[in-house]
Amino acid sequence: MAELLNGQKRTLMCGEVTTEYVGKTVTLMGWVHRRRDLGGLIFLQLRDRSGISQAVFDTDVCSRELLEKASTIKLEYVVSIVGKVRRRIGNNVNPNMKTGEIEVVAEELKILSEADTTPFSIGDDGANEALRLKYRYLDIRREQLQHNLIVRSKICQIIRNYLSDNGFIEVETPMLGKSTPEGARDYLVPSRIRPGSFYALPQSPQIYKQLLMIGGMDKYYQIARCFRDEDLRANRQPEFTQVDLEMSFVDREEDVMQLTEGLLCKIFKEIRNVDLPTRFTRMSWIDCMNLYGSDKPDLRFGMQIQNLDDTVKNTKFAVFQNALSAGGTVRAIVLKNGADKLSRKELDKLAEFVKTYKVGGLAWYGLGADGVKCSFSKAVDESELEEIKTKLEMQHGDISLIVADKNWKNAVVALGALRCRLAAKFELYKSGDFACLWVVDFPLFEYSEEEGRFVAMHHPFTHPKNEDLPFMLSDPSRVRAKAYDVVINGDEIGGGSMRIYNREVQKTMFEALGFTDEQIAERFGFFVDAFKYGTPPHGGLALGFDRLVMVLTDTTNIKDVIAFPKMQNASCMMTEAPAQVDEKQLTELRIKCEAGDD
Ligand code: AMO
Repeated sequence: MAELLNGQKRTLMCGEVTTEYVGKTVTLMGWVHRRRDLGGLIFLQLRDRSGISQAVFDTDVCSRELLEKASTIKLEYVVSIVGKVRRRIGNNVNPNMKTGEIEVVAEELKILSEADTTPFSIGDDGANEALRLKYRYLDIRREQLQHNLIVRSKICQIIRNYLSDNGFIEVETPMLGKSTPEGARDYLVPSRIRPGSFYALPQSPQIYKQLLMIGGMDKYYQIARCFRDEDLRANRQPEFTQVDLEMSFVDREEDVMQLTEGLLCKIFKEIRNVDLPTRFTRMSWIDCMNLYGSDKPDLRFGMQIQNLDDTVKNTKFAVFQNALSAGGTVRAIVLKNGADKLSRKELDKLAEFVKTYKVGGLAWYGLGADGVKCSFSKAVDESELEEIKTKLEMQHGDISLIVADKNWKNAVVALGALRCRLAAKFELYKSGDFACLWVVDFPLFEYSEEEGRFVAMHHPFTHPKNEDLPFMLSDPSRVRAKAYDVVINGDEIGGGSMRIYNREVQKTMFEALGFTDEQIAERFGFFVDAFKYGTPPHGGLALGFDRLVMVLTDTTNIKDVIAFPKMQNASCMMTEAPAQVDEKQLTELRIKCEAGDD
């Protein structure tokens, strides 16, 4: 039978009971984590957010009734225990537990809440994910999740303090708004008052934060919830959190980048005691693509992509020839000491892997213990292999993996993905390494085959590099943006830009994107209007807060850092959202549903 707390107060958290409390009486409250019944002696491990303490019910000290009561306790019961702290002796000391040198000799026990048998055991990290998400509140009792959520909260505090110390003001912006220009699909909310009209949940506070700059807020930040209806991945959720900031009277990327470096250095120092470089590496987008085949390269390891175009320009190997004659390229990476590590079967698997990146296949040339192993040796002279070896600076034991394609981007992206796969397989980096990078000089536009026009690579308010302004209409593909992404260990942790604040530039931008005046007026009318009334030069950035917490808690699954995350199909296992609603609600909204598949 559950008992009332009746004003009883906890004196200490379970994880805090150390030898300094020996001889003192403490009151602990928590969940029963483990239970060992030795007849006249019962051990209960009591767990709360801070850790675990062991309580003993010993007939030498406590009454028969108390022992009997303790024997009825089951796992996950919520109890309070009053008792005296004593030092454990001999074998009873548990060096693996923070509180392993003490135990609490129970004098009083209250059952505050009973518990049914849980669908999985709380300490079990290996329980099925779907089951854990269905009972997320039980999963949250797990030490790892508690740790991650606590770290998340600490990072939030550091961010607030840092930005506040740097003159930023926290402002909340609406959830119910109009579509924002981040390029994903919107989540829509129907309006009851104006049937047929919809609010869009923000994909980011982008428009509002720029309006705040026009409104004179000068420096703004927000820990902002964002919503994007896009395909989910291990580092993406439909609703996620950004550390969003914007500052006025700046026109250089460095201003925002340096502020962000300061923030990240502080977070890594306080959370992990790691000193990040005070200035991160900067690399242009084009160099990132050429050297790493990615706009978010993982710099914890080398294995840069190399260009073999000149080396194989007279090749007889048709695959290389065809790529080069079609204006394409031949690129390679070298896996040091990899020749004997990659079996023929594995190389075939890697070839299948690169094919998923739109290239025809993979060629290899290795200098193994049993001599040369090369997928195209029959098609080329030995001298060509020698030249490749020299160009790639290959040594005995190394293997080069080569991709030829008529499309430069496909070739480097395929090798970039292969590079990461090999690094993970052969553990070319270790946990606890952090490689931070700014990717800069992004193209302002990218060509969309689907839409048959140039689209903004970031968003249409990103400022072009001043020196590229003359080419906005005549040669959009050469225009670079005043944009920057911060990348840690191959993950895009954030991005931002200097914004257009000049009406003429904005007009040219819309023209380059092929927007008609009506489209501009309809989509961004209020926003463009606002720029007429005095706009300071401004720029900002948003960090993917969940991703940052992932890096700091060494997890590769975004669900591990969010209290109540969604599944792959954007549903919630626990609440079963999204769910059907009452007919009455739909009628009120004047919405009729067509019968769907479910
Ligand atoms: P962007 O779209 O690059 O920029 O978003 C900023 C950062 O948010 C994170 N992120 C996500 N995290 C989890 N799940 C998602 N679905 C998801 N989508 C994005 C990434 C990304 O780098 N308004 C601009 C910022 C600006 O220009 O100031 C913006 O939203 O880490």
